[in-house]
Parts: sequence; structure tokens; C-alpha cells
Amino acid sequence: MLDRLTMGNIIRLAILGSGNGTNAQQISEYFAGRDDVEVACIIYNKKDAFIAQRARNLGIEGHYFGWKDFYQSSAVLDYLRQREVDWVILAGFLWLVPEAILEAYPNRVINIHPALLPKYGGKGMYGHHVHEAVVEHGEKESGITIHIVDNRYDCGTMLFQAKCEVASDDTPDTLAAKIHLLEKEYFPRVIDETIHRQQ
Ligand code: GAR
Repeated sequence: MLDRLTMGNIIRLAILGSGNGTNAQQISEYFAGRDDVEVACIIYNKKDAFIAQRARNLGIEGHYFGWKDFYQSSAVLDYLRQREVDWVILAGFLWLVPEAILEAYPNRVINIHPALLPKYGGKGMYGHHVHEAVVEHGEKESGITIHIVDNRYDCGTMLFQAKCEVASDDTPDTLAAKIHLLEKEYFPRVIDETIHRQQ
């Protein structure tokens, strides 16, 4: 990696998502115009996900891969290698990352989770389901967790957490809005710091 940087090459990110793609857009805009980091591609696993449109709007190569591509072939890994990707960023990606990708990118897959892990994590705990559970349990605070990905849902070395208050009149929707603000403020910056720390 050091060789690539000293040779003037840039750190290339792949963003993986399944839904709206607000984080993918924020990360892409944060790094746009930088000469040391580039979003090389946006990969999505739902054909009609809005993240695909965002990739087009951003002028970033978007690519759909289905279940078989992820779990029954080397298609995704081949693509990451072909795009010379250095780091894989999960931004609302709702499947487990296949072992082969984790092995090819050891400690180089980063995820964001919209709660204070280890609370409200695990299979089925994603997006709005998380905020519904947090409000339902009467939590006084929630937040975001950014962590290195391993082969379990929402586990792996923690990199960063930020908190927000859950007010008594918060609904899952208003809480989601607070969490999105935290994601916007911190996720791109934590990625930036992490990928430079580990070169
Ligand atoms: C984000 O809030 C992200 O934290 C969450 O999905 C949302 C995706 O939104 N991720 C998880 O729940 C992972 N377990 P986006 O597609 O608009 O970025």
C-alpha cells in the first residue's frame, strides 16, 4: 500500500449499499476532488435501490451484484480487484460480507451501524428497525457505531461512536433524522482517518 501511495497512486474505496444511499452520497461528495482518495465504485444488491440512481448522479461507476454473485461465485471479489479497490465501505449494506472478501481485505472493511453497539445490533437490526426498537425500549440515548467488519453482523473492532439524545417525544422517524445527521458529520471523516492511519 505504501508503495502505491509513494508512487502517487490514490486510495480507492468501494461503497456497498442496499437502499437509499445517503451515506454513499455523503462519502462520495466528501472525497470528491481529493487527490489521495477516490470512490472507485458503488456496489448495490437491490436492483431498484435508489443508491443506483445516486451513483449515476455522482458520475461514479455503479454495479449491481445479486446473491449468486456474492455467495456462489468470485464475481464481486474479481470486480473489486479489477477496480483496484483498497478499502470496502458498507453504507447500509444488509448482507453479511462473504469470507473471501474479508480474507482479501483483512481489517479493510468498514461498516456503520445506526445505534450504540453492542446494543441493537445483529441479524434483522438494520435501518428503521433499529430506531423502532430504541424508541420502543425507552432508551434515553442512541447514536452511531463505526467498526471494522468481521464475519458476524455488527461485530468487529470498534472505531468510533457518537451519541444523540432520544427525547421522550421522539418517534423512529425523528430519531432516524438525528442519526442521519451524525452519519453525515462523522462517517466520511472516520473513514478518512482510518484509511490513512493504516497505510
Ligand atoms: C444507515 O442509517 C446505516 O447506518 C444503516 O442503514 C442506513 C442506510 O441508509 N445501516 C445498518 O442498519 C446496518 N446494520 P442510506 O442507504 O441512506 O445510507
